[in-house]
Amino acid sequence: MMIASLKKELAALDARQIIQFISDKYGEKAVFSTSFGIEDQVITHMLAEAETKASVFTLETGRLFPETYYVWNRTLEKYGLPIKAYYPNTTAVERLVTEKGPSSFYESVENRKECCYIRKIEPLKRAIQGYEVWITGIRAEQSANREDMDFIEWDDANQIIKIHPLFHWTLSEVEDFLKQHHVPYNPLHDKGFPSIGCQPCTRAILPGEDFRAGRWWWEDRSKKECGLHATN
Ligand code: ADX
Ligand code: SF4
Repeated sequence: MMIASLKKELAALDARQIIQFISDKYGEKAVFSTSFGIEDQVITHMLAEAETKASVFTLETGRLFPETYYVWNRTLEKYGLPIKAYYPNTTAVERLVTEKGPSSFYESVENRKECCYIRKIEPLKRAIQGYEVWITGIRAEQSANREDMDFIEWDDANQIIKIHPLFHWTLSEVEDFLKQHHVPYNPLHDKGFPSIGCQPCTRAILPGEDFRAGRWWWEDRSKKECGLHATN
């Protein structure tokens, strides 16, 4: 399969070189999803340096933190890369909130998945439609689930090659890069939020808790993925 040869080519490269390679080889056929988390900020910085033709998008769920809009603005100012915003389908989100109220996700895993589907998964499908490569900020260290992944994989559900250029980076490597290159980042990061999603579904973590402990914290550990990266 094509993935195997691409994996071979990329295996010896560092993150910056991977991004340059993808930019050169796939250009407009590559797309990067950013939630403006610290890993995504590193990748945005590298894409800008690579003078990439890849597209950048964010899933604007309608429930983001004010701090996320702040770093979104700072990112536009600093890099000048266009960032396409994808919103939930209006009819679907209107019906959800009308029928179940604005906080249905706390009531059951089914409700939470329904909200994630409407606000993230369906818009994601539109966002990556027609592209060949999807770049994300996933790191192995973020969760046990993710440790079992690879820096490059075939996403069968979405029929796209997924590449995680920072897959082997540690948190301190990410933080050092941000500092060294004066990359704008979410101010919540310094307040105990290593992983930032929607505001009602994200809290700070305590020392010693794992990176994703603050995401959907009221649910069982096993269910704590929103489905964006469902093949894993
Ligand atoms: S999630 O599945 O739990 O939400 P996480 O927050 O760890 O994912 O982010 C992993 C990667 O998923 C990010 O690096 C980014 O590529 C993508 N991602 C997550 N949330 C969004 C979003 N709102 N918009 C665009 N991409 C996102
Ligand atoms: Fe809805 Fe929470 Fe999922 Fe955001 S993270 S889409 S608010 S359930």
